[in-house]
Amino acid sequence: MKPQDGTIPAEKIKQAGDVIKRGGLVAFPTETVYGLGGDGLNPASSKKIYAAKGRPSDNPLIIHVTGREALPYIVKEIPESAEELIAHFWPGPLTIILKKNDRVPYETTGGLDTVAVRCPSDPVARAFIDAAGGYVAAPSANTSGRPSPTEAKWVYEDMKGRIEMLLDGGSSEIGLESTIVDLTEEPPVILRPGYYTAEDLSEVLGRVDTDRTILSADSGVAPKAPGMKYRHYAPKGDLTIVSGETEAVVSYINEETKRLGAQGKRIGVIATAETIARYEADIKKNVGDRNDPASVARTLYRVLREFDDEEADIIFSEAFSSAGLGQAVMNRLLKAAGHKVTKV
Ligand code: TXA
Ligand code: MG
Repeated sequence: MKPQDGTIPAEKIKQAGDVIKRGGLVAFPTETVYGLGGDGLNPASSKKIYAAKGRPSDNPLIIHVTGREALPYIVKEIPESAEELIAHFWPGPLTIILKKNDRVPYETTGGLDTVAVRCPSDPVARAFIDAAGGYVAAPSANTSGRPSPTEAKWVYEDMKGRIEMLLDGGSSEIGLESTIVDLTEEPPVILRPGYYTAEDLSEVLGRVDTDRTILSADSGVAPKAPGMKYRHYAPKGDLTIVSGETEAVVSYINEETKRLGAQGKRIGVIATAETIARYEADIKKNVGDRNDPASVARTLYRVLREFDDEEADIIFSEAFSSAGLGQAVMNRLLKAAGHKVTKV
C-alpha cells in the first residue's frame, strides 16, 4: 500500500471497490475527513475496521451511501424529518440516524438497533462507494484517539500495513467530521456538531435539540453517540486552551512560555493569523482567521498532528467563538485538550 498522488484513475477506483467486496479495507477521501472503509453489510469487515483502528467495538460505524435510494434496503422506515434533511443537505456532511433493519449487522452498529447513514459529496468517495456495492462502513481513518486525518499522508502514518489500499484525494475540504443528528427521537437530537449547525437544521425541521454532553466536560450523563465519550483528537503534548481578551491571552501564553521554557520544555502555540507574530513559543502554528471558523475547521487536525511530529511537550491554544461552525471547532478542541481551559 502506497499513497498515490493526483487524480485517481477509474481502474484504481474499481480495484478499490473490489477490495471492499472481497471483505478488505480501503481508506478514501471525503469532504470532511478521510474514512477507513469496509463493507457495511459484512460483519467480518466491520470487525476488521475495529481492529485496524484499535477502536472499542461498542462504538458504531457510519454507513456511507451515494443517495436516498440506498436507504430502504437498510432501514425500517424513513421519517418525514429524514426526507426533508436529505432534500436539503445530501450529498454533504450530514449523518442521520435511523432504525436499522436485519440487513445491517450488529457488528457495524456496535450492537445498536439504529444505524448512522451519510451520503458524502466528494466525487472520489462517491465513485468508490458505488464501485464497492453501495454500503461502505467507515469511521475516520485515524488510529483511535488521534486527530482524524485530513490528508492521505496522515492516513498512511496510522494505517500502513493495516489496510489494502489508500485513495489519495488531496486535502479534505471541510476538515472536521460530519454533523450527526438522531432522527429516531422527537424532536431530533444533534449528537455531534459539524459543518451544518443546529441553526441550519432548525431552519428545515423546526425544533432540534443538541445533546447536552457536546460542550461540557462533566454533564454527568453519557453522550448518545457512543464515540463522543472517548478522549479524542489528543496531541501527545499537554494541551491547554486559554480563553479571555486577546491581549490577556497573548501575555499569559508568553509568560508561561518563558517559565516553562526555563524548565527545558518545548512549547507550542495554536495561534491565529491575527496573533501569531506576537508569540514567543518554540513552535507556532497559524490555525486560521479568528473571524472565519471554516478556516480553523480546515486546519485544526493538521496542526494537532504537526505538534506531534515536532515533539511539543506543552501546547497552548487560543479559544474560539462557539457560534455557528465555531461550536464544532470548540467541541473538537475541548476534547483534544481533555477539557482543560484556563481563563485569563
Ligand atoms: O465525517 C464523518 O462522519 C467521517 C467521514 C469518514 O465520513 N466519519 C466519522 O466516523 O467521523 P467516526 O466513526 O469517526 O464517528 C462516527 C460517530 C461516532 O461518535 C459514533 O459513536 C457515532 O458516530 N455513531 C455511529 N452510529 C451511531 C448510532 N447508531 N447511534 C449513535 N451514534 C452513532
Ligand atoms: Mg472518528
